[in-house]
Amino acid sequence: MNLGIVGATGAVGVEIIKLIQKRNIKYDSLSLFASKRSVGKKFIINSIEYVVHELKEDVFNSLDYAIFSIGSSLSKKYIEIANLYGCVVIDNSSAFRMDPDVPLIIPEINANIIKKCDKIIANPNCSTIILNIVIAPIHKINPIKKIVVSTYQAASGAGLRAMEELKSQAESYCNNEEYDTRIFGRQYIWNAFSHNSSITENWYNEEEMKMVNETKKIMKDDNLKISATCVRIPVLRAHCESVSLTLENNIDIEKIYEVLKEAVGVKILDDRKNNIFPEPLIVSGKNDVYVGRIRKSLINKRTLELFISGDQLLKGAALNAIQIYEYLTYL
Ligand SMILES: NC(=O)c1ccc[n+]([C@@H]2O[C@H](COP(=O)([O-])OP(=O)(O)OC[C@H]3O[C@@H](n4cnc5c(N)ncnc54)[C@H](OP(=O)(O)O)[C@@H]3O)[C@@H](O)[C@H]2O)c1
Repeated sequence: MNLGIVGATGAVGVEIIKLIQKRNIKYDSLSLFASKRSVGKKFIINSIEYVVHELKEDVFNSLDYAIFSIGSSLSKKYIEIANLYGCVVIDNSSAFRMDPDVPLIIPEINANIIKKCDKIIANPNCSTIILNIVIAPIHKINPIKKIVVSTYQAASGAGLRAMEELKSQAESYCNNEEYDTRIFGRQYIWNAFSHNSSITENWYNEEEMKMVNETKKIMKDDNLKISATCVRIPVLRAHCESVSLTLENNIDIEKIYEVLKEAVGVKILDDRKNNIFPEPLIVSGKNDVYVGRIRKSLINKRTLELFISGDQLLKGAALNAIQIYEYLTYL
């Protein structure tokens, strides 16, 4: 079990390193990789100092497993090479998610479909994970026919530099200085805007289509009706999602509560008296995805409304990947 963390210095990579220590992850050797820029950076993990190395093709020669968090074009290039060296990869990027031969895994939902011979295991998109972990248990007791979801996404979902841009704009606002807009090309602080991914042929953006296609793959239902609208809000960490689910049968709200209460990785926060529901500052740093505002819709008896918030750097990326590694090493 020689483990490599590829993209160790990024927003997701750093969380993976913290989890390795927190969850006492097993390995025989651990190596950290990033770009040339980060060579020599140091991390202390379980009291041992690890130095970051430059990612090169031959590093996979000595690795059994690698967790990748470097973006899809680099993933495409290096995962093929890693596999040639016999290294099994868990990938946080979108590069292989829709490949029919690659399992798309949220361990609480479908770890059982991982096969011993799989060479790549894909982590779903962060917004997809946060949605699916909450709706999968509902689907089991009352099948979901239609999903309408709107997201409120944090800066860190676009990586460390995006997070830095939001922080610097907050400082610039206080100092009455010009904003640095290199990442998002606009004033981000005090603003909300359509997700920064490209618009596709059908006028949905790429993030929205990831949620649509990946949810269909995870739920194994190509005919599922699902529509998403993805928006960035000026929050540093943790995404929110407003979700409207149309189910096959009339809603029994008590049963929905029961099933969400039992769901692994999900926590109900639905304090109507004090008006406290899931929000980024409450869920940041937490493993569970929080759900609240659980109510029957005014639209019809089969529609359920929810509000979800989850730390997309943890369950939406690093934690999900580490859980997959734990699963693989116990297979
Ligand atoms: N952020 C999230 O919430 C989130 C959630 C789910 C999935 N993901 C996916 O996870 C991946 C990483 O995202 P992130 O947010 O962690 O991005 P990030 O903060 O920008 O980090 C990118 C990482 O990739 C490394 N890298 C960049 N160019 C490289 C190269 N040429 N060779 C080797 N390493 C290179 C960077 O190293 P340097 O520090 O040396 O530049 C850094 O470690 C992306 O595919 C993203 O879509 C992110």
